[in-house]
Amino acid sequence: MLKTLIVSNRLPLQLNIKNGKVSSSPSVGGLATGLKSVHKESNGLWIGWNGLIQEDVDSQLVNTVEKVVKEQQCASVTLSKDDFDGFYYGFSNHTIWPMFHYFMEYAKFSNDYWESYKRVNEKFAQVVLENLEEGDTVWIHDYQLMLLPQLIKEKRPDVSVGFFLHIPFPSFEVFRTIPWREQILNGLLGADLIGFHTYDYERHFLSSVSRILGYATSFNSITLADRVVTVDSFPMGIDYEKFSSFAKANQQQTDTTQSELQRRLYHHQEETPEAKMILSIDRLDYTKGIANRIKAYERFLEKYPEYIEKVRLVMLAVPSRSNVKQYKRLKKEIDELVGRINGKFATVSWTPIWYFYRSMPFTNLIDLYTSCEVALITPIRDGMNLVAKEYVACRTDQTGVLILSEMAGAAKEMNEALLINPNDMELIADTIKEAIEMPVSEQKKRNKYMQSRLKRYNVEKWAEDFMNKLKSIKRTEELVK
Ligand code: UDP
Ligand code: G6P
Repeated sequence: MLKTLIVSNRLPLQLNIKNGKVSSSPSVGGLATGLKSVHKESNGLWIGWNGLIQEDVDSQLVNTVEKVVKEQQCASVTLSKDDFDGFYYGFSNHTIWPMFHYFMEYAKFSNDYWESYKRVNEKFAQVVLENLEEGDTVWIHDYQLMLLPQLIKEKRPDVSVGFFLHIPFPSFEVFRTIPWREQILNGLLGADLIGFHTYDYERHFLSSVSRILGYATSFNSITLADRVVTVDSFPMGIDYEKFSSFAKANQQQTDTTQSELQRRLYHHQEETPEAKMILSIDRLDYTKGIANRIKAYERFLEKYPEYIEKVRLVMLAVPSRSNVKQYKRLKKEIDELVGRINGKFATVSWTPIWYFYRSMPFTNLIDLYTSCEVALITPIRDGMNLVAKEYVACRTDQTGVLILSEMAGAAKEMNEALLINPNDMELIADTIKEAIEMPVSEQKKRNKYMQSRLKRYNVEKWAEDFMNKLKSIKRTEELVK
């Protein structure tokens, strides 16, 4: 039976390992949800890193993990300590991530990182090739695996290969400075279809291909010596029904079924009914503009002191990539900023920022989305930003105001949000005031448009569109043969 192999750095599973016993639960992430039907139908297989470092575990545990993973239609790749440092922390998160998000000064160009990236992409290729059968389709995800399309196509030209980039593709002027620019582009061009979140990223990619490799590019295709590669944009959506139905259920909770967080949030609302809560949720990443956001909030409190004790910033920062030095530095900076602002403005009965440094279970995320009247999402650069979409989906009574950075891919589809430049503190401070004071009728009008768009182009539709395009490319190629 023909199948689709999905490949991503992380598996769509959460593995729980205790005393040598392994169990798994499905991950709640957007990618896992969106690809559920592609994965489960027709005997699909998902290949990814199982989260283990070879040197830290014995071979028996690796075998048990592989067995558990297999039961979930997955196959795993195990990384060594060197792979983890050079491929994951190194080339992926210390070279590509900063470069593709325009943080050029944070990028490290190291030949060791590059060698490790190549080696791990080959490791992934080996597992893919072992599992491939004639007529199968391969869909590869994200910046950790940009060499994989070529590694597969070289060995199996008969197989249809798709690639989707979940982060921005930078402009040619930035991309051209990467020492391994040709190899990265050639790696990607092994795919038959390359997808991006926005038309801008697609354009940047096409211009890099034509200027660096000299291939002829037209509107959305690239002509290589022996085949044509199609490039297109597919803005990733969310599982709208899941978010809106959990949000509805959340509002029907009674005192006894409420979560601790929900109780605290309601208590706050009851004590200070006129006070507004402003929500901020991201991985603790320098691309997310968290420091600027806190400074803009400070500016807001300075400029509009009448709001002291009448607003609260509820800030969730999820720990991420904490071995990379810029992330460590950022953690320190945020801790200091939060401490300073809370120290400067707090009163006996009020703290301006509630700061959580951890990840939260899904139901707590819903508590936050449903309780906060404003969401302040201000990345300096972001491929898409699903949090913005999830917030709007959870506003089931259509109240709530989204303040969103123009630099997030999501801004292209969410024009009714209050769009801001994340470097303009004065503008963000004024926009916070505008959001707090926005009449309910205006809030509803804006959210209505955004919700109907998010509902229509949900994550399943995104996956379906990509797969349909890949199938139609295959059909056309077969006709031409
Ligand atoms: N998220 C989560 N646990 C948390 C906080 C957030 O699973 O404690 C999820 C959130 O619901 C969203 C994703 O993490 O689906 C973040 O995606 P986004 O595109 O906003 O940013 P990324 O982290 O991919 O850069
Ligand atoms: C972004 C990337 C993903 C990555 C995720 C979490 O969404 O596009 O590929 O998996 O961040 O980062 P991590 O380094 O923890 O996998």
